[in-house]
Amino acid sequence: MFKGRHLLTLLDYTPEEIRALLDLAHQVKREKKAGIFPERMKNKNIVLLFEKTSTRTRCAFEVAANDEGAKVTFLSNSQMGKKESLEDTAKVLGRFYDGIEFRGFEQNTVDMLAKYAGVPVWNGLTDLYHPTQVLADWMTIEEHVRKPLSAVKFCYVGDARNNMGNSLMIGCAKMGMDFVGIAPKSLFPDEHLVSKLRAICEKTGGSITLSDNIDDVDGADVIYTDVWVSMGEEAQFAERIKLLSPYRVTMDMIGKTRNPDVVFLHCLPSFHDLETAVGKDIYNTYGITEMEVTDEVFRSKHSVVFDEAENRMHTIKAVMIATTTDTLD
Ligand code: CP
Ligand code: NVA
Repeated sequence: MFKGRHLLTLLDYTPEEIRALLDLAHQVKREKKAGIFPERMKNKNIVLLFEKTSTRTRCAFEVAANDEGAKVTFLSNSQMGKKESLEDTAKVLGRFYDGIEFRGFEQNTVDMLAKYAGVPVWNGLTDLYHPTQVLADWMTIEEHVRKPLSAVKFCYVGDARNNMGNSLMIGCAKMGMDFVGIAPKSLFPDEHLVSKLRAICEKTGGSITLSDNIDDVDGADVIYTDVWVSMGEEAQFAERIKLLSPYRVTMDMIGKTRNPDVVFLHCLPSFHDLETAVGKDIYNTYGITEMEVTDEVFRSKHSVVFDEAENRMHTIKAVMIATTTDTLD
């Protein structure tokens, strides 16, 4: 059963349910490419709450809703948390809307919205999790790696305790994949999450390995990285650059996989050149021209980051259809 469900973290979904969401995402992508628009969300309204900035997530929700015949309100200056409690805000929005997306800092905010709204609430990124991104990432792997997900060796390199590290590790455990988190020990993920996921792996056939050695990308099907400093952590640049520079994804690291077909993924946005204000500031302060990935890898044949970005829209569409209509029930 999907109708009426929230998506707060993929921990709440079974492997079969994640499989069904991915299948629906592939279907809606095929439909859109064929010019078929069934408008399964006609007459529905959704609201998008953003405390943090976004390009892909906001646009994915808006375009997906438009394609499905729903109408969208974008809200970034509400009373929520300032003059009105989360509970009251959730109850009000639940009277107006058929679904609520939230992007912001605390996981507790999206959990509270879900508790009180009475309509599906979707996590569009918190400090802890970014579940809709992982669905797009798995869809992209299915398009570019000639193996079932359960046979994939997935290497996440960089800040392994951020929202992407957590969410990718959850997604791997759920789908029976081999997750290798490669990071300095001080950026290893939370031990409680790791042990919970290892217990899930016993059922799904997945595995979780943590290492501080980049040689462990050997045999990878996928190398994934994310920014070294997530939104809200901007004070950490100096320390992270020092800690993570040895973990930059370079062509040398790609070579260490010994897999000529290894796929490079990144949730984006990425600091791979000096074409951003932040990238320029970092260059002026620290003298580095690239952070988590070199421009060479980013633009190489291994990189499918723009397919991945597009798939945000198809997967978010699948999540909204599944949770606001009876399409999958
Ligand atoms: N990957 C991702 O969530 O992108 P935005 O921050 O642009 O939404
Ligand atoms: N870890 C990053 C992901 C951005 C999509 C952040 O939270 O800023």
